[in-house]
Amino acid sequence: MTQQTEVQQTVPKLKDHNIWQGGHETNPCAIVLFGATGDLAQRKILPTLAHLIHDHPQPETICIVAFARRPLGDEGWRAMVLESLDKYMAADDKLDDKGKQAFAQRLFYCQSNFDEDAGYQRLGQLLDTLDKEQHTGGNRLFYLATPPDTDAEIIEHLGKAGLAQPPKQNGNGKKSWVRIITEKPFGHDLASARSLNAQIGKVFHEDQIFRIDHYMGKETVQNIVAFRFANSIMEPLWNQKYIDHIQITVAESLGIENRAEYYETSGAIKDIVQNHVMQILSLIAMEAPADFSANDIRDEKVKVLRAICALTPEQVQERTVRGQYVAGEQDGKHVVGYKEEKGVSPQSTTETYVALKLFIENWRWADVPVYIRTGKHLPKRSTEVMVQFKRVPHQLYKPEQMKDLQPNRLILRIQPDEGIDLKIGAKVPGAANDLATIDLNASYKTVFGIELPEAYERLIADCIVGDSTLFIRRDEIEESWRIIDSITDTWKKMDPNTVYPYAAGTWGPEEADKLIQRDGRDWVNP
Ligand code: BG6
Repeated sequence: MTQQTEVQQTVPKLKDHNIWQGGHETNPCAIVLFGATGDLAQRKILPTLAHLIHDHPQPETICIVAFARRPLGDEGWRAMVLESLDKYMAADDKLDDKGKQAFAQRLFYCQSNFDEDAGYQRLGQLLDTLDKEQHTGGNRLFYLATPPDTDAEIIEHLGKAGLAQPPKQNGNGKKSWVRIITEKPFGHDLASARSLNAQIGKVFHEDQIFRIDHYMGKETVQNIVAFRFANSIMEPLWNQKYIDHIQITVAESLGIENRAEYYETSGAIKDIVQNHVMQILSLIAMEAPADFSANDIRDEKVKVLRAICALTPEQVQERTVRGQYVAGEQDGKHVVGYKEEKGVSPQSTTETYVALKLFIENWRWADVPVYIRTGKHLPKRSTEVMVQFKRVPHQLYKPEQMKDLQPNRLILRIQPDEGIDLKIGAKVPGAANDLATIDLNASYKTVFGIELPEAYERLIADCIVGDSTLFIRRDEIEESWRIIDSITDTWKKMDPNTVYPYAAGTWGPEEADKLIQRDGRDWVNP
């Protein structure tokens, strides 16, 4: 009998990552937050900025200006932000009093409605004052963390107030810059995205515009590029000759979390597929870029999207499945159905789950199906890309020897437990010549021992240094809406009963299983 000794594994503390890119000049700047008192800013953007400034200090000054309606003033705004930092910064990341006070001193408030000309004049004056007194160097980053229907108005006013261009006097004689970050959703269909692009384009040049998709800020999403183009072993196999199919799963265990108003207009396809999934897919499928410049990479990504044809109504019926969660149980707790959520219409046909099959119609990917699924209230939170390879061309083993053998699969674990997993066949020890599947598994945190940067932190730091590689270009947004519109246009005409119910805490409706099983395949659950 083998004696087992239990070894207590202590997890070593992870090392800090670096966030400022070598070779890029860092600059002082004023970040102007629109939607500063809103949920996204308070929960995410401000804690991220506090962490960025505290843990990755720069010699340069960063000031944060709120442009908002409430009569708060600098002091009221500072108190509000400090409260949010206490609430939302991770327990192991909290700032001490000195850190909080130092951050608070960088916060300024400009009270205005979004449609008030005089408010933008006041903002301009405040920014000039900050250049003089805080040495922000005339560099301005406008961050629109606002409901999408206000974006066009804000942009127009910024242009009218002359704020889209750097000031003539910046106090330091260097060239200064103005950039704008826009949050998703960027439009709600192709026409609205085009119109928003046109409106921004009238005021800002494309290289000033940073459209955020926070998935691009995730290390594991960026690693798709490194994995593919820094290794020679995958590239010869990375095509329709060797790959059977690809699955992309974005599973969420949470529901809609008080976001009914937004989610009712969005649904799973616009919330996740149009942006996050399309970004992952374009990195998985793109050709090698000429180099790592922002435009070369984005040129290749957009070519993938262009090669995905719009779905015909018949294809939408065959290749897409919508679902909506009904009451169920998750982690031992009762969960209400989507229609019972606060703010959701009891007749709602919004999909909280979608499964679909797409094809990338080019030489590399001809006839390789890409199965995509995403949903709220699935059994666990997990985002993965699974690439399944074809079986060997000639089988030497007998079926009974291969009972436990799965096809070769490469799994890129985007989150959580970030890492890479390769399933390969191996001989089971013994005389029978039986085969089984074993895992070659690498976890990012274990291998590197480095804390992964938060996606927003990476993206804001890149914007400050002017690197737009991880941001979404105008044509990418429009191409991805073109594909999504072809699906939603048909959904609108389909019987609402084709939004199939699934119990919260399960892997989606049966029809989604049938979608893939019709092709003789199965979903591989994370
Ligand atoms: C957001 C969606 O873009 O992404 C949310 O609006 C979703 O509905 C979130 O929950 C998922 O992000 P992450 O990083 O937790 O996978």
